[in-house]
Parts: sequence; C-alpha cells; structure tokens
Amino acid sequence: PVTDRVADLLGLLNLEQKAGQLTQYFYMGVAMNIPADFDITSVPEEHRAFLQQPLMVRAAIRQGTAGAVLFVKDPALINELQQIAVEEGPHGIPLLVGYDVVHGLRTIFPVPIAQAATWNPAAVEAAQAIAASEARAVGINWTFAPMIDIARDPRWGRIVEGPGEDPVLGAAIAAAQVRGFQGDLGARNVISGPKHFAGYGASRGGRDYDDAEVSDSELHNVYLPPFRAAIEAGAANVMSAYMDLNGVPASGNRWLLTDLLRGELGFDGFTVSDANAVRSMEIQHFAADLTDAAARAVDAGLDMEMAMFDPAYARIPQAIADGRLTEAAVDEAVRRVLTAKFRLGLFESPYVDPDGAPGVGGREDDSETARWVAEQSIVLLKNSGAALPLRADELGSVAVIGQLAASKRDTLGPWVFDHVTADTVSILEALRVRLGDAVQIEHAPGAGIPNRLHPSPFDRMDPTVETTSDDHEDDDEIERAVALAASADVAIVVVGERQNHIGEKASRSTLELPGRQLEQLQRIVGTGTSVVLIAMTGRPLDLRWPDANVPAIMQAWYPGSRGGDAVVAALLGDVSPAGRLPFSWPRHVGQVPMVYAHNRTFQPDEQDKRYANEPSTPLYPFGYGLSYASFSYENLSAHPPVATVGETITVSADVTNTGTMAADEVAQLYIHQRHGTSTRPVRELKGFERIALRPGETRRVTFILSPRELRHWSAVPRDWVLDATTLDIWVGGDSLAALSTSVRITR
Ligand code: IFM
Repeated sequence: PVTDRVADLLGLLNLEQKAGQLTQYFYMGVAMNIPADFDITSVPEEHRAFLQQPLMVRAAIRQGTAGAVLFVKDPALINELQQIAVEEGPHGIPLLVGYDVVHGLRTIFPVPIAQAATWNPAAVEAAQAIAASEARAVGINWTFAPMIDIARDPRWGRIVEGPGEDPVLGAAIAAAQVRGFQGDLGARNVISGPKHFAGYGASRGGRDYDDAEVSDSELHNVYLPPFRAAIEAGAANVMSAYMDLNGVPASGNRWLLTDLLRGELGFDGFTVSDANAVRSMEIQHFAADLTDAAARAVDAGLDMEMAMFDPAYARIPQAIADGRLTEAAVDEAVRRVLTAKFRLGLFESPYVDPDGAPGVGGREDDSETARWVAEQSIVLLKNSGAALPLRADELGSVAVIGQLAASKRDTLGPWVFDHVTADTVSILEALRVRLGDAVQIEHAPGAGIPNRLHPSPFDRMDPTVETTSDDHEDDDEIERAVALAASADVAIVVVGERQNHIGEKASRSTLELPGRQLEQLQRIVGTGTSVVLIAMTGRPLDLRWPDANVPAIMQAWYPGSRGGDAVVAALLGDVSPAGRLPFSWPRHVGQVPMVYAHNRTFQPDEQDKRYANEPSTPLYPFGYGLSYASFSYENLSAHPPVATVGETITVSADVTNTGTMAADEVAQLYIHQRHGTSTRPVRELKGFERIALRPGETRRVTFILSPRELRHWSAVPRDWVLDATTLDIWVGGDSLAALSTSVRITR
C-alpha cells in the first residue's frame, strides 16, 4: 500500500532532503535559451541570479533539495528535469510539476468567471477535463486551480479567475472544476489545487494582496463553501493565500491551515504556499527571520513552499536544531507530498512523450467544446425592441468597431501563456466567416485601449502585450471609427478591458471603460446607426450610459480560443444566450462592494435608497441574463408546508418556454429566513438548474433543501445552527424572482 511505500522512502531521507521534498521552485525557463558559451559577466550583476536560476534549480533537483517545480511546459524539458530527479537524485523521487492551467493550456476556454456564468457545472467539468489532459500530456501533473475565492469587489483584478460573489454557485463551480481536472487521478488528469485559502477575495479596497478582515460567520457562510465543495470533490492540494486574514498571514495561520482546513473541512491532501508567500511572512513583519517563517509555516500546516530563490524551507534543519520545529511535523508534511507523487503514478511513469501528446491543442472535439462552453457563458444584458438577434439576410453592411473585436490575445484572456493565435478566432474573423461575402464588413479599431499603467512581471513574459496608444493617434482613429459606423447598417461596437487590465496585480480603482471608449461610443450612437454593444471584460464595468442609450448589450467575457464563433452565434441567433451573471453588476464604483445577499436592515423599504445621489440597487442583478425566448414560472410547491427542524424540504415549479425559439433557461431557487439565531440575507441562492426548453415545452424543476442547505453559521453560539422559523422561497430566472411561497419550520 501507498502508506508503506511512503514510510519506507521517508526513512531514507535526511533532513535536507526532507526539506527538499517540501520545496517547489519556479523554473525561469526563458533563461534556458541562452547559449552554453554565454558570458554571464556581460550581464549587470543584479540580473545574473535570474539567468542562473535554472542551473541552480537543476543542481537542487540533483542534490535532492527540490521536490517540485513550476512554470515548465515543454515536455522535453520536463522529461529532462524528471530524469535528473529520478536518475541522478539521491533517492530517485520524481518531481511534482505545477502550472497555472486556469482555463486551458492550448485549447483556451472562457475565463473562470465566464465559466461560472454558464451556471452549468457539466460544461465547466468538460472544459477543465480537456485542460487537464492537455497539461498531463506535456508532463504537467498539478494545476494551481481552481481559484475559488468569492469576490464581491470588482475592483479586485482576480475576480476574473473566480466563481463570482455567491457561495452556492461558487461551490458548484468549484466542485465541477476539481472533478474535471482530477477525475480519478488517471493518466489524463492532474492534481487540482483550489486556492487561495482563504478570504483573499476580501482584500481591503479590492487592492491585490492587501489584508482581509473577515468575520468567522462570513468566512463560514460565504468564503469557505467553495473550498468545502472542492475538498469533497477530492481536491488533492490546496494553496494558501498571501494576505493577512484578521491579522495573521494565511500561510502561517495554524487555525486556518490545520484546525479549519483539516479538522473541520476534512482535507487530507498537501498544502502549498502561494509564490514566495513564506518569505513574505518576514516582509509582512510577522516572522522574525526566514528560519522563523519556515518553522511557523510548517507548524501551521503548510506542507510545501513555492519559491523563486533561496527558499525559507532550506532553513528547516536549522529550525529543528534550534528547537523551533519538530521533525515529526516535517515528516508529516513530507508524507503528504510523497503520497501525492505515488497517487499520480509518477514513480511508475515519470516521463511523457517528448514530442508532446500527439494532437494536443489541435483536436477538433476539444475546440468544439471550447466553442460550446463560450456560447454557454454569454450573458445578454439588454435587448430592447428585439434588436437582437441580427438577421443575416437583412444586413447590407456592418461596421465592427474596437481593438478588442480583432485582438486574439485579448479574446483568450489572462493566464494564457501559449498564444496559439492560429487556433484563436476573434469576433471580427468569426463574423467574416459566418456572414461571407454577402455582407460588407469593415473594421475600425477606434479608440486605443491603454495598457496598464503599471506593467506586471507577466507582461514581460508576454511578447504580444502592446504599447499604449497616444491621444493624438486616438483622434484620427476615433474619427475613422465614427465615420465607418455612420455609413453602416449596423455598428457592432466591442468595448472592454485588455486582458492584462485584470487578473493578479491588476486591480483598478475605477470601473470606467479604459481610454476614450465611452466617448467614442457616444459619438457612434449619435450617428443614428443602430448599435450593438459587446463587452469583453472579466469584471462589471460602468455601463450606465450604454444601458440608457444602446438597445442591445452582450457580455462576452474573455471567451477563449473559439470565443469569436460563440459571440457571433449568439449575435445572429444560432443559439439563444443563456448565461447568467455570477455577480451583481453595480452602476458605479462607489457602490462596491455590492452583493445581492445582504442582510435585512433598519428601514428595509428604503433599501434601494441608501445613497442620496443614486439608487443603491445594481444595474443588473445577480443571476440575471436575457434570452431570445421567454419563460414563465408556475405551480410552485414546497413540501412539507410545515416542517420540523432538520427535515428536508422539496421545492418544485413548472418552467415553460413561452417564446418561439428553443433556448436554455437557468431556474434559480432563493430563500430568506424570517427570524432566527442570526439575521440572514434578504435572499440566498440555494439551488439552480440549467434546462433546455423547446418553444411551448414545460418542465418541472425540483430542488432539495436539506439541513445542509438550510443551516447557517452564527456568531452566537459560534456554530452551525438550524432554526425554527418561517422560510420564504422564490423560484425564477434571477435573484429578483417573483413567484414565491413559504414554509413554516417548527421544533
Ligand atoms: O498560482 C499563482 C497564484 O494564484 C498567484 N501567485 C502566483 C502563483 C503561481 O503562478
């Protein structure tokens, strides 16, 4: 059995080698391209370490002081590193090879927030299973995904990587991703590492890495459910977060990483730090020095350190010698890491086909899945006067406006390191293919979309990141775009943020459209040409003006390799959009953080007037999205109508497609508890189902409210409670669903 093999191996390792198994190094592969006779002294001293980093990592693998690497995806190189570990390392222990396979490796799926917008766990699972198989084929055996931090402040750039604002939707999407990545941990799967444990989405002010103050009840009721679901789905790894959680860095927080994660949530895999997060505990003035950081991290339950240079965990032997750490704690961590390597089958087959798996990235079926998932994710935000779908046979000329309409790189979204542009379909390209020569299609990039003011390290690794356009050029480009739109039958205007405006270290203090995109849109609308607006973004932007002035608005997200095809299919009515918002879409940045599931407070009738200057309601509510069909909800029933505490309640309703087109609908169940141990949100999602309905078809949807769905964690008595109460229940197509009933719950 694996436990015996782990115990045997552990008995062979000295302390340095044990620390090595707990160390994961970045492998700065770019530097590997330098010629063997390269004169390192020709490079300024401060850059030499970076260039020598791969050599240092190879030496560490050879000595047995590195047990894992990250950021390598070339199969031949991965084989080479595995060979050093297995054939030259002291005990032949293969490497864990990690990578941020967030929404695809070669075949790129919509960004995770868009996957959440499908409200279709099966689609999400299918996407991540393909991502896993492409990764494993090149030798990657572990993904730092899914990112399942609940995010309620869209200024935070990482909202694009997560499942949105809601714990129940978040839990379903988290579990689906883990199932997709990990499957049964076979030859086409990778270890899945949900992240960032926990509360990172609550970073103060939406600023990345800032500290988070999260009450225990909010942690339990809001931030932890996706982790609980991911762990129940079998996640073999969890990544700790960078930030302080209530004053204690998450990576050195024993209560979080041991009591809660292992004790309460039942996690039995291995944990890893976020990149350089253990060293950061010294920088954050929590640990006295790096030895202290290492000791406290291991003691907290952080099994592996992810580091670039000079890992704190190299000081583990010193920490033991100083009596600051026990060898037993280190052994426990090593056991968990070795178990993961055995579970992956790495000892039996450490190598992959060096040419990469045949067909990876080019498989027709996978590409079709990418198109399907992207179609599923599109959210129709506005459609007055049935402006959409466009009728292909009525179109003479179409003006396509915006850089993003033609930018393949932006269509793919952040966390994409393989820019397989030949496989990527932009909106412009897809329109040309779909409409053919019969329609005259012209493109004007129009207003420049500036790149980030602060370039990130990822930008430097990305040769396709372009430079900022200046205003002078913009004047000419905007004139051209407006003139083109004025002369066309329809203007399809694609607005949004570039992919590097969002993601890690990409928070913004505003939700405005970057650059002069709004001004340009206003001028285009002023021409009188009919306008369709497409938003390419991973966070809600300020769309107050477009909402008031443009008849049709579609949220396309960063839709991935086949994103252009999916957007065009939705524009032309080949499919009906049925994605739903996984967050409340604020009107204005001043409203954030915004959440539909707020508690009922003093003067609830004035809830929508909490600001003197504008409504405090969102522009578009959570769960919202329009369709080319229409749906009715009827015959809502809840059984039993009077329940006892702890009893399961079954809720059903009939959903009918009252439109003329086959379409998907996302039926959603919300509850509110009228009184109890704590005040509870005015509405909470407790179930959903995406269903396909033909015109005139009716289906009965059924939801189960078991004690698990009905309990909540209460600050008094600091535990889960199930209350005797009255439960209001709504079923409908978004969080404003009107059809309701109630159930009395007695003791
Ligand atoms: O996995 C990521 C993490 O989400 C943020 N910091 C860097 C890690 C490795 O790329």
